[in-house]
Parts: sequence; structure tokens; C-alpha cells
Amino acid sequence: MGDRNIILVGAPGSGKGTQAKRLLDAYGLQQISTGDMLRSARRAGTELGERTQAYMDAGKLVPDDLIIELMRARLAEADVRNGFVLDGFPRTGAQAMALDRMLQDGGRALSHVFVVDVSDDVIVERITGRLSCPSCGFVHHVRFSPPREPGVCGRCGASGLYQREDDTEAKVRVRLSAYASVREEVIPHYSAQGLVTWIDGLQPPDVVFAEIRSVLETEAS
Ligand code: AP5
Repeated sequence: MGDRNIILVGAPGSGKGTQAKRLLDAYGLQQISTGDMLRSARRAGTELGERTQAYMDAGKLVPDDLIIELMRARLAEADVRNGFVLDGFPRTGAQAMALDRMLQDGGRALSHVFVVDVSDDVIVERITGRLSCPSCGFVHHVRFSPPREPGVCGRCGASGLYQREDDTEAKVRVRLSAYASVREEVIPHYSAQGLVTWIDGLQPPDVVFAEIRSVLETEAS
């Protein structure tokens, strides 16, 4: 069996981060979340963090050149050699083509692209109720998966679960319109390569994961 190099595609709040953490815990596949990387850069006060802050705060896409360079550096790191899960990248046709070249240059290939499909009407409720862990990035939801102890991460035990600054209803609407480039450019790009599996993201997280898992295990056996 070859390496599992997976892309999770989905609208904001579709559950990409939720499933990426499960893939990390079940298979040891490194989660590469461009959103998490940009938020860390911002917390660390780096130049990248400063240059991307206004785009993120507005819910708009960060320019391709910044994101592609970020991804090129991340994919060169040793911990992703045995498989990774991309969460939030690529989001444009240019990013998808740049990724193809990066992987080809490194002698690697994608194994699966899962599109986690969710209707727009549930997204606002999911995102405005999300609680993110400041330490491991795990997400809870005030209603759908509340933490056992208020404010405390159920995965790593860190305290201080917080609401992201772009998780307001108004910003979610802008983020949803930015998803058009994924729908129109990214999904067709990978469909043409025969890599896409659609998953019904309206099901509970465990059921979504069981479907992803069954595709991975069927193809591995
Ligand atoms: P990013 O951080 O990638 O945000 P996003 O794509 O909007 O996705 P989210 O993290 O909001 O949602 P998710 O799908 O991971 O859902 P989650 O699992 O948390 O990007 C942020 C910003 O960074 C962008 O707006 C842009 O500015 C910039 N950026 C990042 N990458 C970029 C790129 N490549 N190019 C340009 N700009 C880029 O779940 C959401 C909630 O729902 C949680 O509370 C969870 O508990 C709950 N939930 C999850 N699954 C289920 C389920 N099945 N049933 C019920 N509840 C569920």
C-alpha cells in the first residue's frame, strides 16, 4: 500500500478539522491546516501573520503566492513523509496546480480527496457554536459536542476553549462565498484525476469518519 496523502475538501464548518484530527489519531497522518498555520503565525507576530491578518478577519482568501510558499515549506518537513491530511488547502485552481507540481517534484502523489458535503443552512449554526482548543486545535461545539468540563478540551485537557474571531455569522457568509473557487476549480480538478469521494457531512462526526475509514480500508485491503 502506498502512503496515504489525503485532501479534505469542504465549506467552512463542514467538519474538515474534526475529521483531520480523527485521521491523525487513527492513522498518525499529520494534519496540515493552512488556517491553523496562519493563526499560529499571527499569534507569533510573524511577517506572514501580519500580511494575512486583514484577509482572514474579513473572511476572504489569502493570496495564492503566500499560501503556496507556506505549503511548500511545510511539505518539505520530515513529519509529513509518511502521509498527511490537507485541511483547507488547496482552495483555488492555482493552489491545486502548484500542489500537483510540489508532490511530483518530491516523488509523491495524492491518494484520496474527500469532499465533506454540507448544506449552507447548517453551517452558520455549526460555526457560531464552535469552541476551539488553543493547544491541540481540537474543536467542540456548544450543542453538538460540548466539552465534558466547561472550557476544557476533551482531547488534550488544555483549558481556555475559545471562539475564533472569524466565527461570526456575517463573516461566515463571506467565507461561504469564498468557497466558490473550491467548488468551481478545485473539485473539478481532482474529479478529473479520479480521486474524489463525496461524503455526506450532515451525518454525526463518527458516522462521517466511519465512511472515510471504510474507503481507506477497502482500498488498502
Ligand atoms: P480555515 O481555518 O481553513 O477555515 P474554514 O475552511 O472556514 O474551515 P473551518 O475551520 O471553519 O471549518 P471545518 O470544516 O474545519 O469545521 P470544523 O471541523 O471545525 O480558514 C480560515 C481562513 O484562513 C480563511 O477564511 C482564509 O482567510 C485563510 N485561508 C486558509 N487556508 C487558505 C488557503 N488555502 N487559501 C487562501 N486562504 C486561506 O467543524 C465546525 C463545527 O461543527 C465544530 O464546532 C464541530 O464540533 C462541529 N461539527 C463538525 N462536524 C460535525 C458533524 N458531522 N455534525 C455536527 N457538528 C459537527
